[in-house]
Amino acid sequence: MASGNENVLVGCIGGSGLYHLDNLTFVKKLDITTPWGKPSSPITISSLPSGDLIAFISRHGPDHSISPSEVPGRANIAALKHIGVQAVIAFSAVGSLREEIAPGHFVIPDQIIDRTKGIREDTYFRGIGVVMHSMFGEPFSQKLNGFVAPRVEAILKKAEHNVELHTGKTVVCMEGPAFSTRAESLMYRQWGGDIINMSVIPEAKLAREAELDYTLICTSTDFDAWRTGHAPVTVEEVVKTFHTNSANARAVAAGILQDVHDVVAEGKVLDEIKGSMRFSCVTKRD
Ligand code: ADE
Repeated sequence: MASGNENVLVGCIGGSGLYHLDNLTFVKKLDITTPWGKPSSPITISSLPSGDLIAFISRHGPDHSISPSEVPGRANIAALKHIGVQAVIAFSAVGSLREEIAPGHFVIPDQIIDRTKGIREDTYFRGIGVVMHSMFGEPFSQKLNGFVAPRVEAILKKAEHNVELHTGKTVVCMEGPAFSTRAESLMYRQWGGDIINMSVIPEAKLAREAELDYTLICTSTDFDAWRTGHAPVTVEEVVKTFHTNSANARAVAAGILQDVHDVVAEGKVLDEIKGSMRFSCVTKRD
């Protein structure tokens, strides 16, 4: 493990198409091994113009070689926690389950429907001899969502981007690697799903267990499979929109990270999640 006193308050997890951040000065790479193995990538530590530090992990690896089912979520979150991170800004490419969420649009969801298949290591609390339950009714940090959303919107509204942001949406997390059938896609719409990805679970659960504030900034790449009269999503379509989306996501990150750092440093967004695991242990001890 690294020394653990890096004191980096904000961590970014880059998803498909987002493998680095802009407007930051490279400081160092940390090659960390946690009790849950190695993170998806070395952690890049960079500094903002103010000198404040930001950590970055590439969820699928620097060369996109780690499939969603194989992402070492526990190592990623543990490594960020270990270097002092308190708030995580994660990015993810998503499919849209709604006509109004067009490819290129951004979404900050506030709910999750878990359709992963139980094959992912999704907790730190299995096989440890005590029983722990985290509270997950609000799976994202509501305060961090509320802090980030207007800032993301202001950046995306600028003429050079002119992109819409949707908030208050529900993300369905599926196992993959195959995309959904048309029937499944239609069913997710009936369930109230607005967007779909393969990555938010277990990341959001693990962040909660580690008492990290966690928000997900999604970039829509396709309309999944639900639209009758349209061909279902293809990898070609998804990858095509990665590039514009990732330029916009980098602009968003560059525009919000100092503010996020400052509010975390002041302790203002964290009071909701920090300490939330305090009463989570059910096991009786004398
Ligand atoms: N990521 C991007 N598009 C997706 C889709 N349609 N389904 C699941 N994950 C996705």
